[in-house]
Amino acid sequence: MFVCSCFGVTEEQVRKHAESGACTPRQIASACKAGTDCGGCVRRIQALLGRGACPRRESADRGAPALTGAAAARTGEDRQGAPVALPDAA
Ligand code: FES
Repeated sequence: MFVCSCFGVTEEQVRKHAESGACTPRQIASACKAGTDCGGCVRRIQALLGRGACPRRESADRGAPALTGAAAARTGEDRQGAPVALPDAA
């Protein structure tokens, strides 16, 4: 089922990005652009993330780092959604 009709992003794709470490709608947007056009899907993405789509969410809620190393570099954000420096592409 499509979550983001603007970019054709499915619920399954959002779950996969969440499993890879994306714990916020902004991080999902960084991974696949979902939510960056009309924004009509952001609440649905938030609902998916709140339903256990992100396995790191529980530790993030306890204050543990949700994204570290490669996962943070892949999304270009820290767990609060702030941009982080990305390594130069080789
Ligand atoms: S439906 Fe996702 S940005 Fe429009």
